[in-house]
Amino acid sequence: MSEDSQDLMSEDSQELIEQHIVRTGVPAHVAIIMDGNGRWAAQRGWPRIAGHQKGVDSVREIIRAAGDLGVGTLTLYAFSEENWGRPEPEVNALFNLLDTFLIQEKDELMRNNVRLCTIGNPDALPDKSRRLIGEACQELSGNTGLLLNIALSYSGRSEIVHACRELAKLVAGGQLAADEIGHKVLESKLWTASIPSPDLLIRTSGEQRISNFLLWQIAYTELWFTPVFWPDFGRKHFAEALRSFQGRKRRYGLVQSSQTS
Ligand code: FPP
Repeated sequence: MSEDSQDLMSEDSQELIEQHIVRTGVPAHVAIIMDGNGRWAAQRGWPRIAGHQKGVDSVREIIRAAGDLGVGTLTLYAFSEENWGRPEPEVNALFNLLDTFLIQEKDELMRNNVRLCTIGNPDALPDKSRRLIGEACQELSGNTGLLLNIALSYSGRSEIVHACRELAKLVAGGQLAADEIGHKVLESKLWTASIPSPDLLIRTSGEQRISNFLLWQIAYTELWFTPVFWPDFGRKHFAEALRSFQGRKRRYGLVQSSQTS
């Protein structure tokens, strides 16, 4: 069999897999820890930045796949608060990639009906990135499809501290009683206030940890780990994660109804 016909066959089966995923029910919110860019580059003897550059291609492909499959929200962990401690040239390169992505992809995001928002500490971002993010969020705000949520200068612990401070101010000002603070009230002050918790969290690169990502929100999220480095992560891996999710039984601490007696 020629390579061309093999490719065609695998394209066909990918399409069938995706049709099955859509019929079976897609997670409303998928979050991804995009990891392994540096190791992907090191394996090739290239600078780490080359891994981040190739990682942008995966970002593009997964946004497209998530939109096509009907995922409601896609949250991408692009830059953690801890990442500020990386060498300055790498930090600058990451924000340049983000800026270029926002400039180059805005029309494509618009064509694909994608909305955009960010979570994290906005004050920590470079002025240019903050401006480009603001413009893109505004321009895409009328869309009705996938919500692309990019985590930038994000830390789950800092998010919870931020929410506590906001609530403490309300209590100190007499606008809220301490007893009124429950899950819903605390959630209303998180950066993700308007976004449902993730149903599925994917981490690439073989690491199996959470790295300070969405600590509050992942209480009942299904986790899926893959050894694939982010720059190699594509549509077929995303579909594999969704298939795995569809096979899970989510019990939220309860028992299955067939096992109640
Ligand atoms: C983790 O890999 C990846 C990052 C810290 C950055 C992710 C950024 C991108 C994919 C590009 C820009 C994003 C957008 C949304 C346009 P690592 O560097 O920690 O890899 P390593 O663990 O192998 O060193």
